[in-house]
Amino acid sequence: MTLSLMIHSLAAVVWVGGMFFAYVILRPTLQEWEALERLRLWKEVFRRFFPWVWMSVLALLASGYFMIFFGLGGFSGVGLHVHIMHLTGWIMIALFGVLFHVPWIAFLRAVDREDVATAGAKLATIRMIVLTNLVLGLVTVAVASSGRYW
Ligand code: HEM
Repeated sequence: MTLSLMIHSLAAVVWVGGMFFAYVILRPTLQEWEALERLRLWKEVFRRFFPWVWMSVLALLASGYFMIFFGLGGFSGVGLHVHIMHLTGWIMIALFGVLFHVPWIAFLRAVDREDVATAGAKLATIRMIVLTNLVLGLVTVAVASSGRYW
C-alpha cells in the first residue's frame, strides 16, 4: 500500500506538473516566437513529454487498482473521494488518448510538411484538451489528497 501510494502520487505529480509547466509557463513564453519555430518547439516538447504521460497513466492505473483491491477491500470499501478520482481519472485518460491519436498525429504531419495553418489549428485543439486535463488533474489531486479527512 505504501509503495503503491508513492508511485501513484509521483505519477500524478509528473503528469499534472508537466501540464502546468506547458500551459502556464511555456505557452505565454513562446507567444512572440515566429510561428514555424514555435510549432517545431512544441513538437519537440510534447514528443518528450507524452511518453512520460503514458508511463504516468499506466502507473496511476496499476497502483490505483492495486490499492483498491489489495489494500482497501474493493470498491465497496473506499471513500467518495476515490470514486470521484476514479471517474475524473478515466475522463483525463480518455481525453489524453484522443489528444494523442487525433490532433497530435495530425499536428506532427502538418509540422513536417511546414503547413503552419493546419499545425496551428491542431495545436489549438491540443491546448484546449491540455487545459481541460490540467483543471481536472488539479481538482483530482485536491480531492484525492484531502478526501480521507472529509
Ligand atoms: C483512474 C484510476 C485511479 C484509481 C483507481 C485511483 C485510486 C486511488 C486510491 C485507491 C488512492 C488511495 C486513497 C486513500 O487511501 O484514501 C488514491 C490516492 C490518490 N490519487 Fe488516485 N486513482 C486514480 C487516478 C488518479 C489520478 C488521475 C490522479 C491525479 C492526476 C490521482 C491522484 C491521487 C492522489 C494525489 C492521491 C492521494 C495521495 C495521498 O494520500 O495524499 N489518482 N488513488
